[in-house]
Amino acid sequence: MTSPRKPAASPVPIPQAVRAEIEELRRQLRYHSHRYHVLDRPETSDSEYDRLFDRLVELEKQFPAAVTPDSPTQKVGAPPASAFGTVRHHVPMMSLQKVTDETEFLEFHQRLIRLLDGEEPAYVIEPKLDGLAVELTYENGVLTVGSTRGDGAEGEDVTANLRTVRSIPLSLFGKSPRTLDVRGEVILRRSDFARLNTERLARGEEPMANPRNGAAGSLRQLDSTVTAARPLVFYAYGIGRCEGLDLARQSAALEFLGQAGFRVHPLVRLCPSKDDVMAAHRSIGTQRDELDMDTDGTVIKVDDFKLQERLGAVSHHPRWAVAWKFPAQEETTIVEDIIVQVGRTGIISPVAILKPVRVGGVEVRRASVHNEDELARKDVRPGDRVIVRRAGDVIPEVVKVVPGGQSPRARPFAFPRDCPVCGAPTHRDPDSAFHRCPNPACPAQIKERLAHFVSKAGVDVEGMGYRYIEQLTDKEIIRDVADIYFLDKDKLNQMERMGPKLAENLLAAIDRARRPDLQHLIAALGIDGVGEHIARVLAKAFGSLEKIAAASIEELQAVHEIGPIVATSIQRFFAMPQTAQLLKKLKDGAMVFPVMAGQAAGPKPFAGQTFVLTGTLVAMSRAEAAAKIEALGGHVAGSVSRKTNYVVAGSEAGSKLDKARKLEITIWDEEEFLRRIK
Ligand code: IVH
Repeated sequence: MTSPRKPAASPVPIPQAVRAEIEELRRQLRYHSHRYHVLDRPETSDSEYDRLFDRLVELEKQFPAAVTPDSPTQKVGAPPASAFGTVRHHVPMMSLQKVTDETEFLEFHQRLIRLLDGEEPAYVIEPKLDGLAVELTYENGVLTVGSTRGDGAEGEDVTANLRTVRSIPLSLFGKSPRTLDVRGEVILRRSDFARLNTERLARGEEPMANPRNGAAGSLRQLDSTVTAARPLVFYAYGIGRCEGLDLARQSAALEFLGQAGFRVHPLVRLCPSKDDVMAAHRSIGTQRDELDMDTDGTVIKVDDFKLQERLGAVSHHPRWAVAWKFPAQEETTIVEDIIVQVGRTGIISPVAILKPVRVGGVEVRRASVHNEDELARKDVRPGDRVIVRRAGDVIPEVVKVVPGGQSPRARPFAFPRDCPVCGAPTHRDPDSAFHRCPNPACPAQIKERLAHFVSKAGVDVEGMGYRYIEQLTDKEIIRDVADIYFLDKDKLNQMERMGPKLAENLLAAIDRARRPDLQHLIAALGIDGVGEHIARVLAKAFGSLEKIAAASIEELQAVHEIGPIVATSIQRFFAMPQTAQLLKKLKDGAMVFPVMAGQAAGPKPFAGQTFVLTGTLVAMSRAEAAAKIEALGGHVAGSVSRKTNYVVAGSEAGSKLDKARKLEITIWDEEEFLRRIK
C-alpha cells in the first residue's frame, strides 16, 4: 500500500498557535476546494487559494510532524510505485444485469413485484457513467484506501492516484461514520479528453481511444504525479460498508454523499413508479449528447435498502438493480473509401467514407483519421471493417480495424503530396504530424475558415449554414471572413434558396455579430492551437486583441496553460501581413473590437466568466444586473450553453433554468448574486 509522506523522525514540538493556524488553513482550503471542484461555485480567486496553500506548505515544512494524510497538501502525488498492491473489497463490487428496451425493463419490474409478494418498489435512476469504477474507504472520515473494482472481489490499490483527484475529498464534511466505503465512477470529461488528444496529436503521440480508456490509463499510473496532472473527476453513486450511520435508502445515501463532499450526478432522480422510471430514462437519453461525459445507459436501483436485502443477489449481480443501456457509441462498419479533406488552417486530414451506420442513434457516413501518422498506425484501408466511435457533437472517428473486412485487403492509402482542392504542393509541419496546404487562398480553406468564423464558437451568425457558405465562396462573393460584413441584399439575392425574409434575418444576424465578446472574437479568428478554451484564457489574461497582438512569446507563455507551441502560433498569426489586413477590414466592416472591462479599473472577479440572466429580479432590472456583471469583468450571454459559467435565476425562471440544470451549470438565486457582487 502506498502511504503519504512520512513525518520526520525527531519531531520539532509544534506551538499551539501554529497548530491552530494549520487547522484553520486546512479548513479553509477544504472549503474552497469543495466549492471549486465539487460544487462548481468557487468563492475565492486562484491566487488567494494559492496563498493559503503556500502558507500551509511552509508550516508543514517547518513542522513535519504536523503533516497528516488528509492535509490538502497531500493531493499532489506521491513518489512513483513499482507495482500496485491488491485490495479486497469488504462487500463485493457486483456488476449489473442489463435491459435494452421498455419491454425488458417492465419484465424486470414485474419480476421484482413477484419476488416482493406484490409490493411495488420505488426506484432511483442514475446515469450510467462510462469511466472506471472505484471504491474509497474512509475511516473516521479520513480517506485511507482507494481501489479499482478489479474482478469485483479484489481490485488494485490506487490510493496514491485517487488522492490526487480534486473531487475526491481526503476527509469528509460533517459527522462521519466509523467506516465508510464510497463507490463511484472516475471519468474524464469529453472536453478534457478532446483537449488532451489534440495536444497528443500535435506532439505526434498516439491519441487515447475514448474517455474511458483515458480515465483508466490516467488512474493506473505508477507515478501519481502523472495522474495529478490529468483532470479526472469522481462521481459517487453508492456505498459498500457503512458502520456507524444508518441509511435506509439509496436516495438518502446519495444525499448523504453530497453533503459529505462528493459530486453526485445532477440527473439522479427518485422515481416513485415504473412510469416515472421510463420517463426519466427517456429524458436522460435525450440529454445524453449534450452532457460533457460519456454515459452508456441508466442504472435503476430499488430505493429501499430493506427491499434490496429481501431481493438479494445472484452470483454476479444484485436482483434489485438493472442497467438500461443506451444505443452504443461505438459500432462496426465497412470503409468504402478514403479521401483527404482540407481544414481551415490548411491541415489535410484523411477521412474514411463509411458504409452508413447508426451510432448512438445518429447515422454516421464519415469518420476522421486525424493525420497521415494515425492512418499508418491504424492502417485503415478501403474495404476494411472498422470500429467507429461517435460521442456528443464531436466528429466521429475510426477507433481501429477489426477482422472481417475485404480479403485480400486493398493497398495502403497513398497520402497525396498536393492539395486535393487547389493543387498546391503540401508540406509536412516539422514540429507536428500534419500535412498542410500552404495556400491561404485555397477555396477549401476559405470555406472552412468562414464556417468556423460564423459558428457558435466564433462570432455566431445565426442562420449562416454551410449551404450558404459554399455558394458565397463558390460565387466569390466572399473571399475572406471579413467579407460577410459587406454583404447586402443584392449580394444575398444571388444565392439560391434565399428569399427576402431570409436575407433580412441573415443581415440582422450579421449585424449582431459585429459586437462579439473578446473570447469569441479570438476563437473566431481560427488561430492554430487556439480553441474556445485557450481563447477564453487569452481574453482573461490580456483583455484586448491589441494587447494579445503586441505580446511577446515570453509574455504569452507566462500565461498559465499557454505553452511554447501555441505561443509561437499566436505570434506568427499576428505577425502575418494578411492578419493586419483582415483586422483592418473587420473594423471597416463596422465590427466593434471588444475590450474586456477589467483591464481598466477596480477588481474583476468575474473576468472570463459567462453569465446568463433569467427570471425576474427584485433588487434591480436585468439590464442593471448585466451592467454590474460586465463592470466586474464578466460577460452576459442571451442563452444558456455549455459555455455558460453561471445562471442568475430570479423568480419565475423557466426554460433557461431547466437547461442550466441539465448542463450542470452553477445557478445563483438573486440573494446569492447580490452577495457575490458585493
Ligand atoms: S451501481 C450493484 N451505479 O457500471 C451495483 N454502477 O456493471 C453495481 N456504473 O463498472 C454498480 N454508473 O462502475 C452503479 N450510477 C451507477 C453507475 C454504475 C456507472 C458502472 C460501474 C460498473 C458498472 C456496473
